[in-house]
Amino acid sequence: MNKVLVSLLLTLGLTGLSHAAGDATAGQSKVAVCGACHGADGNSAAPNFPKLAGQGERYLLKQLMDIKAGTAAGAAPGVGRKVVQMTGQLDSLSEQDLADISAYFASQTMSVGAADPALVERGAALFRGGKLEEGMPSCIGCHSPDGAGNAIAGFPKLGGQHATYVAKQLTDFREGNRTNDGDTMIMRGIAEKLSNKDIEAVSSYIQGLH
Ligand code: HEC
Ligand code: HEC
Repeated sequence: MNKVLVSLLLTLGLTGLSHAAGDATAGQSKVAVCGACHGADGNSAAPNFPKLAGQGERYLLKQLMDIKAGTAAGAAPGVGRKVVQMTGQLDSLSEQDLADISAYFASQTMSVGAADPALVERGAALFRGGKLEEGMPSCIGCHSPDGAGNAIAGFPKLGGQHATYVAKQLTDFREGNRTNDGDTMIMRGIAEKLSNKDIEAVSSYIQGLH
C-alpha cells in the first residue's frame, strides 16, 4: 500500500477504532440468530444478504458498531449504517460480543461464486484499471488484486461476495444512502463515477474473484 493511501486511511479514522480483542470460540455461541440470514458459517444463500465468512475482523467490527448505531431507536438520519432487516438484532450485544462475533466470522472461509462471462471484460477493466480519465482509482489498491481486501487496514474483502449485494452497496454509496465510509467519502467518491452498467459488470466480476 502506498503512502497516500495510508495517510488517507488515517484521515478516514479507520485506523483509530478502539480494539476490543475478539474471541472466535465465544463468538460462535452468539451468532445463532444471524445464521437465518447470513448462514451458520457466514456464507449466506440469498444474494441480498452479505457473506460474512472470511471477511476482515476489523471491518466486521466497524460495520457492527455502525449498524448498531444506525439502527438504534431514534437514530438520526445519516448516523452509522441503517440496515432495517437487522433492527433490534444488536441492541442487547456489547462491544465485546460484537468483537467475538467478528472474530468468529473472520475465521470462516468465504465461498466463491461465478462471474457472468459476458461481463468479465468490462468488470475486470474497472476493477484493475479504474477510470483514470475521470480520476477514479482502480479497486485493487485497497481491495487487492484478488479481492482479499486488507484486513489490518479495515478494507473489506470483496472476492466471492454476492453480486446482488455488492451492486446494492455501490448504488447506495452513489446515491448517498450508505454514508459510513468516513469523512473523506472514499467509496461515495468512487461510486459517483460508476454508471449502472459499470456497477453490474464490476459486481459480477467481484462475485467470481478469488
Ligand atoms: C433478517 C435478516 C438478517 C439478520 C437476522 C441479520 N442480518 Fe446482518 N445483514 C442483513 C442484510 C440484509 C444486510 C445488508 C443490508 C444492505 O444491503 O446494506 C446485513 C449486513 C450485515 C453486515 C455488514 C456486512 C458487510 O459486508 O458490510 C454485518 C457485519 C452483519 N449484517 C452482521 C450480522 C450479525 C452479526 C447478525 C446477528 C447478530 C446479523 N447480521 C443478523 C440481514 C440480516
Ligand atoms: C482508497 C481505498 C479504496 C478504493 C480505491 C476502493 N475502495 Fe471500496 N472500500 C474502501 C473502504 C475503506 C471501504 C469500507 C467503508 C466502511 O467502513 O464502511 C470500502 C467498501 C467497499 C464496498 C462495501 C463492501 C461491503 O461488504 O459492504 C464495496 C462493494 C466496495 N468498497 C467496492 C469497491 C470497488 C468496486 C472499487 C473500485 C471501483 C473500490 N471499492 C475502490 C476503500 C476503497
